[in-house]
Amino acid sequence: MSSESFPTFDAFNIAELRERARARLPRGVFEYVDRGTEDELALANNRAAYDRVKLVPRVLRDVSRIDQTTQLFGTPLSMPLAIGATGGAALIWYDGDVALARAAKDAGIPFMISSASTTPIEQIAAVGGRQWFQLYPWENRALSYALVDKAYALGCEALVVTVDTATQPNREYNFRNGFGIPLRFNRRNVVDVLTHPRWLWGVLLKHLMTTGLPRQANLPEELRTKVTQNPQIGAAFRCDTLSWEEIRLLRRSWRGIFMIKGIVSPLDARQALEEGVDGLIVSNHGGRNLDSVVATLDALPGVLDAVGDRIPVLIDSGIRRGSDVVKALALGATAALVGRAPLYGLAVGGQAGVTRALELLRSEIARVMAFCGCRNIGEITRELVHGAPRCEIPRVELADAIGD
Ligand SMILES: Cc1cc2nc3c(=O)[nH]c(=O)nc-3n(C[C@H](O)[C@H](O)[C@H](O)COP(=O)(O)O)c2cc1C
Repeated sequence: MSSESFPTFDAFNIAELRERARARLPRGVFEYVDRGTEDELALANNRAAYDRVKLVPRVLRDVSRIDQTTQLFGTPLSMPLAIGATGGAALIWYDGDVALARAAKDAGIPFMISSASTTPIEQIAAVGGRQWFQLYPWENRALSYALVDKAYALGCEALVVTVDTATQPNREYNFRNGFGIPLRFNRRNVVDVLTHPRWLWGVLLKHLMTTGLPRQANLPEELRTKVTQNPQIGAAFRCDTLSWEEIRLLRRSWRGIFMIKGIVSPLDARQALEEGVDGLIVSNHGGRNLDSVVATLDALPGVLDAVGDRIPVLIDSGIRRGSDVVKALALGATAALVGRAPLYGLAVGGQAGVTRALELLRSEIARVMAFCGCRNIGEITRELVHGAPRCEIPRVELADAIGD
């Protein structure tokens, strides 16, 4: 196997995969994946929080066998990681959503299907493995609820409602690149595409020659529009009206595991617990929405205080190294999710690239565990952490939170 045909094999960390993705993708697509919002403070803060926390290793503990398997909702994970929902994967690689799902399945970790994916949910679900369905509701809620029912029927074990996108984020680079909804062609992005022939042939023309330009695949046929068109009435995502009442309704009607993604406030964490969620994802959307939002690692202790050990708390936003995952677990997270890391791999080598990204993270987690004297996930504890995250959010004690 030459490294020419599998260019991801000579990327030795996520940052190198990112650089290869930058070369491979048109600027508009790369920036859509990679960048944050406004002044990109959240993007930097997410990283800074991980960099600030240091580890205090334990030594002389025979770390010749490292076991990073763990349990989530009573089912084993091969490592404490899952792939988070990312819409637009088909703009990065022709069958991007399926490639991500396959790589997750092969790696023995869950895959979260995005509401915004342009691949029909049936095709992604057919891959099998452990899948979660992420919901952004359309304005026409009946359509959304029908899709949620379909996700359940197709075997998704969890429904994940994303709650951190109450309005359109101000991603100025997307406007400049013509990369909005609808996608607009301008001189700048046409030149951009023409100067990236591998993407032009391997992604854009392949779409044009098969199913046409990517569309919202899970809408009824008559409501589907191309990425270059405005959504039809009722078929735009409408999250500004989402409320706890709707969460309650969804919770009641979903028979599987129910999670909320995008919690950073202990007060919301407390409310979520009261509404009967099975798990929370501390997330700020990878720093892509509210630019002045708290870093997720800094928010984690407050959320954990609010929910105690009653439900698993997962975290994402900013994870690029195995050491980040170990830090999050040491502070009390059950598992972490990655959004961009697998997408960088996807851009470079499709499914093989995603697998490369996951294997890099897996080996980094194992190495950090060995250095820290942790032979299994249970041994990754709070004592490992030097330099507590900056949690200045008022803490909500569990007793106050749920009245016991
Ligand atoms: C290109 C892209 C598309 C995304 N699309 C969605 C989405 O459709 N639904 C969702 O809940 N989150 C979405 N997210 C957020 C991710 O699920 C995740 O929270 C975030 O990427 C984690 O941060 P990280 O990229 O630093 O790992 C998206 C992120 C990216 C980078």
